[in-house]
Amino acid sequence: MLDSVLRPISVLVLHGPNLNLLGQREPGIYGSLTLAEIDRLLEEEGKKLQAKVICLQSNHEGALVDAIHEALRQHQGILINAGAYTHTSVALRDAIAAVNLPTVEVHLSNIYRREDFRHHSYIAPVAIGQISGFGVQSYLLGLQALVHHIRK
Ligand code: DQA
Repeated sequence: MLDSVLRPISVLVLHGPNLNLLGQREPGIYGSLTLAEIDRLLEEEGKKLQAKVICLQSNHEGALVDAIHEALRQHQGILINAGAYTHTSVALRDAIAAVNLPTVEVHLSNIYRREDFRHHSYIAPVAIGQISGFGVQSYLLGLQALVHHIRK
């Protein structure tokens, strides 16, 4: 069967600052799912796509940079919600450019409907694409797009 010949793929899911507070953090903007629930949905989606999904959250820019560097040896792609670092971090942008792994940027909220300072992303120019505004579906659609991109 076709399924059995798919090569193994591992994807690193990175969540940036304050996303550990999902569920209680501004639910009108970010929804009521906790980060653990989002991670579980991503792992389930990964199983359907026959891709291993490893999720990591950090509030620290350097820890996220380290994780991106380490991804080079372990993963074939990165799905990232960099949170507020999206709008500030040249270091994250440079890390993604340096490892040159296919990267999809996601946001729960539609960053373009919000404050002006959220309209610019340092990540977008080094990502293969961006999905913003669909709540947890942004992550699931992003994972699908990334796995399809890696396999194509
Ligand atoms: C976010 C949008 C960012 O502007 C914000 O700083 C976040 C979450 C989102 O998923 O909608 O922390 O990345």
